[in-house]
Amino acid sequence: MIPNVKPTIPEADIPLILRDIKEILLSRQLVLGRNLREFESAFKDYVGTAHALGTSSCSQTLQMLFQYFGVEDREVILPTLNFISAANAVLWAGGTPVFCDNGTSSLLPTLETIEASRTGRTAGLVLVHITGHINPELSAIKEYCQREGLFLIEDCSHAHGSQIDGVKAGALCDAAVFSMFATKVITTGTGGMLTTNDSRIADYVLSARHQGQGQDLTDCSTIGGGWHMTEMAAVLGRYQLGHLEEWVTRRGELAQVYDRAFARHPKLQLLKPVGRSAYYKYQVLLSPEVDRQWLVARLGELNVQCGAVYHPPIHLQPVYQRKFNFRAGTYPNAEDVARRVVALPMFVEMTAAEQQTVIDAVLGVLR
Ligand SMILES: Cc1ncc(COP(=O)(O)O)c(C=O)c1O
Repeated sequence: MIPNVKPTIPEADIPLILRDIKEILLSRQLVLGRNLREFESAFKDYVGTAHALGTSSCSQTLQMLFQYFGVEDREVILPTLNFISAANAVLWAGGTPVFCDNGTSSLLPTLETIEASRTGRTAGLVLVHITGHINPELSAIKEYCQREGLFLIEDCSHAHGSQIDGVKAGALCDAAVFSMFATKVITTGTGGMLTTNDSRIADYVLSARHQGQGQDLTDCSTIGGGWHMTEMAAVLGRYQLGHLEEWVTRRGELAQVYDRAFARHPKLQLLKPVGRSAYYKYQVLLSPEVDRQWLVARLGELNVQCGAVYHPPIHLQPVYQRKFNFRAGTYPNAEDVARRVVALPMFVEMTAAEQQTVIDAVLGVLR
């Protein structure tokens, strides 16, 4: 089976990672030590922000940011075509997630769909660079948030290395969160990262990620948790980050091969980024007459594993339907895209022969 995603862990890194982990075990400093500091320092230099802080996960980092921005009893706008964890994090922070639709035949919201979800209780907004593609309306959305006094968080969980006008994802808004879950462009198994230029946000997360500590744990001033990254995870992250540029370039090359193979296909619509995309996924939209489930099953029989982000959109997840009484038809563009989006295999180590197998399978099944 050609997998849909596969983390890249170069063979040559493994002895170095093991050596560094052995050093950690011998030092007995398993948390909040040198490796995390080095990883954070390299990460902030890479993204181009003043601060980077390693955390236990992206979801938990979002929750800390929602706490910082005081969303309790207020609303946060999120695209419904998104991973469920952002909406859960709003609820854990005591706020209410309010969804917004995408643009037509797009994975991303527009200023218009965001404005349509705005109420007097909106505290801020999370933009997600789905598949690694940065929102083409980012400048207008930023201006809108500044004008209206709304916070703007980037979720860069698909966008390690994405970039627009020379600025990296993670340095584009008030604060940004990254996931380093096992499938991501770079991984620490499970883990997250905050980036920001705002030292008040960084100070808050620094405290909240370690039980809200001040000078030390006898001086806690915020409600926090055990939400920092371990030293062992930071070692893996350091080695992964060292390869990121090379891997994003490779992903871009793979995407170009797919683009060329599927250009002008009557049943496929390509989703092109503005700027550079990290291509965490390679996603295409099927024309409405193609049954997505059927296509995915047929490709599976040909040993090509497909996925989709995101199906269903969050408002149609059973728990959100029950809790907020959502019905199909509420966000028609997201529902339409969720029915038609397919993620084809995309991973750094994919060979030209494997990619040709995927292309032949897709073209053959659609014929
Ligand atoms: C867009 C997006 N946001 C958030 C998350 C959650 O990340 P984590 O597992 O690090 O909490 C993911 C993970 O899959 C994601 O894809």
